[in-house]
Amino acid sequence: MKTYLVTGGAGFIGSNYIHYMFRKYGDSIRILNVDALTYAGNLENLKGVEERENYTFIRADICDKEAITKIFAENDIDRVVHFAAESHVDRSIRNPEVFVQTNVMGTAVMLNCAKAAWELPDGSFKEDKKFLHVSTDEVYGSLEEDGGYFYETTPYAPRSPYSASKASSDMLVKAYMDTYHFPANITNCSNNYGPYQFPEKLIPLIINNALQGKKLPVYGDGKNVRDWLYVEDHAKAIDMVQEKGRLFETYNVGGHNEKQNIEIVKMIIETLREMLPENDERRAHITEDLITYVEDRKGHDRRYAIAPDKIRQEIGWEPETMFKEGIRRTIEWYFDHEDWMKNVTSGDYQKYYEEMYS
Ligand code: NAD
Ligand code: TYD
Repeated sequence: MKTYLVTGGAGFIGSNYIHYMFRKYGDSIRILNVDALTYAGNLENLKGVEERENYTFIRADICDKEAITKIFAENDIDRVVHFAAESHVDRSIRNPEVFVQTNVMGTAVMLNCAKAAWELPDGSFKEDKKFLHVSTDEVYGSLEEDGGYFYETTPYAPRSPYSASKASSDMLVKAYMDTYHFPANITNCSNNYGPYQFPEKLIPLIINNALQGKKLPVYGDGKNVRDWLYVEDHAKAIDMVQEKGRLFETYNVGGHNEKQNIEIVKMIIETLREMLPENDERRAHITEDLITYVEDRKGHDRRYAIAPDKIRQEIGWEPETMFKEGIRRTIEWYFDHEDWMKNVTSGDYQKYYEEMYS
């Protein structure tokens, strides 16, 4: 039975990944979820897996070397899947330091502890141990509107404090692979959407605001492009890269699903109106009149677009969820989880929202 150490498993993608893995492997794997439970981490995301005997939650900070060393000492870890990070660009612009701390220093601790636990006296590594570092396409910088795609060979050119910290963490993983032959992979994925996403990010923020009849803030001219991927397709890609990919390789993960932000906002309005029952009074206020153009993000990257050729050709992964279907599933999930939304948007979120959009 393989033992997985998943960091950041109480966040958006991490929790979706854990659900996916238990659906796929059932009782034949064990997962330890290590998460500090920052504002973005929520144990409610793991309802349904918490009672499993092959699942353990450990509250720990990935920067805490002692705590992480202890976890490796007490468990024979076979796979590390490293999601834990500060993940929101706007927050990184307001407060970059915590991004350096968690994303760079935290990754250094994770690498160091895995290396210490897996290394043999001759400098080689125990058999079948693997570390997967989950990263972003934002490390490649910003593309022009008609300016091609991000490939694994595209030079790094991060432009926000978030992407700079992720690029630094990727470089550390690459350094471990080159220097020590440390058994790892990196995945660089495009924007994800789906259940359990914290409503500071575009799609859940727009769904939540629209349902409440609040303004829908669109940065700048609304024509920035992101390449959206349904989160479950990302979870599947991570598992396939770890099990079928070539060690030491980077794989780009994306959906060939480029959309301007304004298109996304209009599509959410349209889909909400289609999905709400005729007699639901919220239908009346969910119109394009809610759209409000606001000041642009500082240094706003114009376009991201992944070329997922390598992962398709080498591993056979392809995105499976069409955007129209994925958005409907996502909205359905938010309809069914009003309490989740209420809980995560109380307290600190209100303060953040007021400061950010004032
Ligand atoms: P998230 O913000 O929803 O979740 C991050 C999780 O990490 C939270 O549970 C949080 O509590 C935990 N965490 C933060 N700091 C920690 C620390 N010091 N120690 C332990 N745990 C800590 O993020 P997400 O959107 O799920 O992203 C997960 C990973 O995927 C990140 O590495 C991110 O860079 C990457 N990624 C995200 C996207 C996207 O669209 N969201 C796209 C590509 C890559
Ligand atoms: P976001 O979800 O923060 O992801 P990222 O910045 O990592 O791509 O933002 C997606 C796009 O939506 C980005 O171009 C910024 C834009 N955006 C808005 O226009 N309004 C908003 O309120 C937010 C949160 C984002």
